[in-house]
Amino acid sequence: MEDGIFITIEGPEGAGKSTIIKMLADQLAEEGISVMLTREPGGIEIAEQIRTIILNPANTAMDARTEALLYAAARRQHLVEKVKPALEEGKIVLCDRFIDSSLAYQGHARGLGIEEVYNINQFAIGHMMPQLTLYFDIDPEEGLKRISNHKGREINRLDMETIEFHCKVREGYYLLMERFSERFKSIDASAPLEEVFQNASEEIKAAVSKWRK
Ligand code: TYD
Repeated sequence: MEDGIFITIEGPEGAGKSTIIKMLADQLAEEGISVMLTREPGGIEIAEQIRTIILNPANTAMDARTEALLYAAARRQHLVEKVKPALEEGKIVLCDRFIDSSLAYQGHARGLGIEEVYNINQFAIGHMMPQLTLYFDIDPEEGLKRISNHKGREINRLDMETIEFHCKVREGYYLLMERFSERFKSIDASAPLEEVFQNASEEIKAAVSKWRK
């Protein structure tokens, strides 16, 4: 059996991650590659319950460390119930957001420290780091404009943050790109959809031939 490959997709709000990730999964499936598309918390009941608490706009009193711990807890549950079994079956796992979201949002933008948040996530995920991370880069103002034009999208507690917060998130991702340069690939998400998709698709193909040579 072929080895599973763990790929994560990251980026600020409105970068178009969820549209592109679906196109990527469809393309792989059409090529006969066994793929699992998921997102945190990815339909895992316990993790969904945790997510409801984190993203509830009424929970304005939530402490930043509580938020980081809850994301790590939801991540752990999703990983053991869904991601690990799929990798063990040899699938390519495409996961919309993972540890780097916590490092950029809680570690850098909330100011908890990337190192501290990395440490609690190590407890949650052990050695299960992604082999490839596609980072969809977009100016936060442009991204937020896109989601406000996207009718029907729920507005969650993090969307309600200030533009400064979202700029810090992007800055956090830039720091991660330097730190994890071997697995991070940045993609310009302000380009037309088809171009973003093509660029992302090439990175995935390169990863597949690297890990399955
Ligand atoms: P979601 O509706 O999934 O947003 P998106 O479509 O942008 O991925 O909401 C997830 C929100 O939670 C989003 O604002 C990013 C934030 N988040 C963190 O702050 N830390 C994390 O570890 C994760 C996974 C998400």
